[in-house]
Amino acid sequence: MVSQESFVNEGRLTRSRRLSMINIGSLDEKIVLFMEGEVRMPREIGFGVVGLGMGKHHCKAIDAAPNAKLIAVCDVDEERLERMTQQYGCKGYRLYAEMLVDPEIQVVNIATPSGMHAEMGIQAADAGKHVIVEKPADIAPQRVDSLIEAGRRNKVKMAGIFQSRFEPLNIRIREAIQQGKMGDLVGVHGHLPWYRAQSYFEGPHGSWKGTWNMDGGGSLMNQGVHTVDLLQWFAGPVSEVSAFFGVFGHDIEAEDHAVAVLRYQCGAMGTLYTTTCCYPGLNQRITLFGTKGTIVKEEGQLKVWKVMEDVDGAIEREMMDLYGEKKGQNASADPMAVGFDGHTQIVMDLVEAIEKDREPTLSVTQAKHAVEIVCAVYQAGRTGQSVRLA
Ligand SMILES: NC(=O)c1ccc[n+]([C@@H]2O[C@H](COP(=O)([O-])OP(=O)(O)OC[C@H]3O[C@@H](n4cnc5c(N)ncnc54)[C@H](O)[C@@H]3O)[C@@H](O)[C@H]2O)c1
Repeated sequence: MVSQESFVNEGRLTRSRRLSMINIGSLDEKIVLFMEGEVRMPREIGFGVVGLGMGKHHCKAIDAAPNAKLIAVCDVDEERLERMTQQYGCKGYRLYAEMLVDPEIQVVNIATPSGMHAEMGIQAADAGKHVIVEKPADIAPQRVDSLIEAGRRNKVKMAGIFQSRFEPLNIRIREAIQQGKMGDLVGVHGHLPWYRAQSYFEGPHGSWKGTWNMDGGGSLMNQGVHTVDLLQWFAGPVSEVSAFFGVFGHDIEAEDHAVAVLRYQCGAMGTLYTTTCCYPGLNQRITLFGTKGTIVKEEGQLKVWKVMEDVDGAIEREMMDLYGEKKGQNASADPMAVGFDGHTQIVMDLVEAIEKDREPTLSVTQAKHAVEIVCAVYQAGRTGQSVRLA
């Protein structure tokens, strides 16, 4: 047995003649075993997190991920900064520019208000850092393009965050669609009847929420963008959008209820609604039906798996056993009730992407279409005209 420090080597891959590492850790614990053998040892990658609201989840995720090390956190809020540096024994920066010149940091996780994402990501890339950026990648597609371009220019990796894509049930649903088990998709419907009290939009960390220039919208761009991404990840790109939106139950600038009709490139049609007005917060519901089957899920729980070719119902039973019951909280009423397993997988994936010099599984390029769809919904709602997406 050796200590973990023995394979950390100033950002270079090291080679050990005697020891290899097997990761058998759960996401909550780093557990590593070492065995005899000649293998390449992965280096530990240094992370810095900016924005310590959702950034707290990033710290947990980095802490849980093998070969990732939280080097520093950054926030202009001294209290949040102090709390996290104490908790993780890491460095703390009040100024982002100072964190960016820390040579121990190779990856910067950006969890500041959404309208700051591209600019902060570009700064990180220009400083030679890889980037993980919270959802949405930014609030306008053109800004996301600038971020992608900065990644290319600086030859750094750029990962987005839509943690739902890493949930096993969602992966199985996508596989079933791609393998043609549902036939041709006909209906692709996503509904998000969530609730946020007015207090969510107030105070030092609330006042940017529900604004056009920092949140890029309201219930759709902030809460709903996960659902939008999941729909297009299942069904493929959206080609046309019609929509309405408005403010009903909150004193905010943007919207707290958006309703849209979407046409997908694959030919399917669907509805989408998002709200933060639906007291006390009900489950997200996704209904998908094709010419050969129907799948319905609510949050992480499978409700219906009826596929014609599954004549004896064996697959349905397997799927219901695995995903038919899910207990615990979700974010329908509590914004911080999201877990961090998905974030941990995104961190682990980026570490591997750096190691193998490949694209992250969820690149910022892939995270862009959700922003395009959301912006098209807003444009359609404002103009009363349907909007075509390229
Ligand atoms: N993946 C998810 O499920 C999920 C959930 C919630 C929020 N988010 C995303 O995370 C981001 C942050 O949301 P939040 O709810 O945590 O907001 P928040 O306001 O609670 O946190 C943002 C933090 O950024 C800090 N900050 C602002 N400007 C800064 C600067 N120039 N330098 C350093 N720190 C700065 C603020 O002080 C604050 O602590 C948003 O983009 C949001 O969409 C994602």
